Amino acid sequence: MAQAPVTASGQGPVLLALRHVGKVFSNGVTALSDVDLTIREGDFLSLLGPSGCGKSTALRLIAGLSTPTSGVLDWRGAIDRSNIGFVFQEPTLLPWANVFDNVWLPLRLKGVSRAKAAPAVTEMLARVHLTGFENAVPRELSGGMKMRVSIARAMVTKPRILLMDEPFAALDEITRFKLNNDLLELWQDERFTVVFVTHSVFESVFLSNRVVVMAARPGRVHAELAIDAAYPRDEVFRTSPDYAALCRQASDILVNAINTSAGPHHDGH
Ligand SMILES: Nc1ncnc2c1ncn2[C@@H]1O[C@H](COP(=O)(O)OP(=O)(O)O)[C@@H](O)[C@H]1O
Ligand SMILES: [Mg+2]
Repeated sequence: MAQAPVTASGQGPVLLALRHVGKVFSNGVTALSDVDLTIREGDFLSLLGPSGCGKSTALRLIAGLSTPTSGVLDWRGAIDRSNIGFVFQEPTLLPWANVFDNVWLPLRLKGVSRAKAAPAVTEMLARVHLTGFENAVPRELSGGMKMRVSIARAMVTKPRILLMDEPFAALDEITRFKLNNDLLELWQDERFTVVFVTHSVFESVFLSNRVVVMAARPGRVHAELAIDAAYPRDEVFRTSPDYAALCRQASDILVNAINTSAGPHHDGH
């Protein structure tokens, strides 16, 4: 059953606080400068910003895949790498392994046998609507289905925090909407914490209770917008005046963030 809906930021206990976090790469690029960000348990927090504003860098720092060059990440409560799930834009599945075995992988790496893992794998596949596809291999799946496998693989260890780096950016809009809906359903049922990177205003507003808008050169937090709309959110919300108004607000903040970015406006990947 869904728990009490989160309608605004600042309700759950603090899970992680980034304090004055900076990241300067060895080539001299300041990817992040003086980032202060508090992530609360149960948040669905989006990092929204233009290409190059340090979204992926921030996510990698939170994942422990990289370390800050200044500032600290202050984790509250015991959390280790197995409490963190990561979903990338590319589903990065093992091409020779079937769906079941791809989702089993993180448990297998922890020493859990196929038989012992089966209930958890089967449950996660049901949660992402892939029951019946256990024996399919990745090349037989659509892009959306591959992403579902990737989400099931990240969630099979029941992480407390799920980090997603533009997971749906390569999908068509209909598939993206479906995955947005299904991800929200999963989040509402399990009530883990999500940090979601996107450059889509519409996606960030639809999904999140908090949208953190970032600016580039140097990458930094520009502003935060609370999305005060109740969950569950569905197609009614997606077509509502409230949603349109919030998207306009987020879009204005994003335009402002882009205009305050120093240096040449560049590329676009
Ligand atoms: N490993 C790296 N070495 C040097 N520069 C990097 C590295 N990774 C990212 N950058 C630079 O840091 C900045 C932020 O990158 P990134 O976090 O990937 O931004 P985003 O995900 O918002 O597009 C960019 O200017 C990028 O070129
Ligand atoms: Mg990125």
